[in-house]
Amino acid sequence: MSTVSDSPTLSYVRTLNPSPASAEERDAILANPGFGIHFSDHMVAIDWTIESGWHDARLQPYGPLQFDPGSAVLHYGQEIFEGLKAYRHADGSIWTFRPEKNAERLQRSAQRLALPELPVEDFLASLKQVVSVDRDWVPTDDDGSLYLRPFMIANETFLGVRPAQTVAYYVIASPAGPYFSGGVTPVSIWLSTEYSRAGRGGTGAAKCGGNYAASLLPQEEAAQNGCSQVLFLDAETGQHVDELGGMNVFFVRGGDTLVTPATSGSILEGVTRDSIIQLARDRGLNVEERDITLDEWREGVDSGEITEIFACGTAAVITPISQVKSRDFTIGAPDAVAGEITMSLRRELTDIQHGRAEDRHGWLYRLDA
Ligand code: COI
Repeated sequence: MSTVSDSPTLSYVRTLNPSPASAEERDAILANPGFGIHFSDHMVAIDWTIESGWHDARLQPYGPLQFDPGSAVLHYGQEIFEGLKAYRHADGSIWTFRPEKNAERLQRSAQRLALPELPVEDFLASLKQVVSVDRDWVPTDDDGSLYLRPFMIANETFLGVRPAQTVAYYVIASPAGPYFSGGVTPVSIWLSTEYSRAGRGGTGAAKCGGNYAASLLPQEEAAQNGCSQVLFLDAETGQHVDELGGMNVFFVRGGDTLVTPATSGSILEGVTRDSIIQLARDRGLNVEERDITLDEWREGVDSGEITEIFACGTAAVITPISQVKSRDFTIGAPDAVAGEITMSLRRELTDIQHGRAEDRHGWLYRLDA
């Protein structure tokens, strides 16, 4: 079936999936979704060319894409993405969290990767399009969500190294349970002493596939050492904590202060990171965005001044960190329990997202209206 409907600036051609998952198949997936394994029945696609700008917006069945083997993204990695979640509230309505922040970050990533900027309104409309047909994929349980993954690729067939003149934007959706298989229990992280995530003037602040590709080898090393994530130090001095493979990091100092690395161009400006800073300040906690060295970490844990450490991101939400391990030393202990501030910030954030607590900052955005 094919119909046309309007979004703020782009008109969508909507083609419904002729063989969507049955209710039984979907329920079986939603009962145990994992992370990033299963996908909903539909997706959005929008094309861009240098001559016509953004055009040809489609809602279409989820399915494989076809590319010319000479397509630029396959060779030079000109790609960016976002991650945000759709939540079902008790009355059945579907909401997402601060999507304008993701839209703006996608625009900043696009600038850095020499890709075209998608207008914020079109980003928001693209999410609504997917949810308009796949709302049954948004889990009903207390912690589940439908992870939305917008991404943009260079798909011009050209092997010269220059910004592509043909680009495509897509949104796919994947029901999500906890990112870490152990659920919300403290994780060990591995300090990479050999590799950096980002350097001065690099792409550290952009959400581009290349950053994640470069984290995979050290992430493997982390897994081999029994750790769930890899921690990177700054490339210049090798002294300061930067971020994890796919998450920002926070420390609780002296019971009343949160410390997190400043976003100095090499760190991803996380939406969850920004929200935690706001929620912490609302509670009267101090928040310091500054350099934090490994020595400060070690001394703080040894003296009892640093009482809690946690990772945060859209996928991981807030996940406590028990210890950091490296080839030469360990800080913290594997049996460290989740801290009180960590878990109460997690509860407060997820309660707002799931509509169980007042949205006093106006962070929620309705997707099904
Ligand atoms: C997210 O938290 O949304 C991310 O993109 C990180 C990735 C590790 C899933």
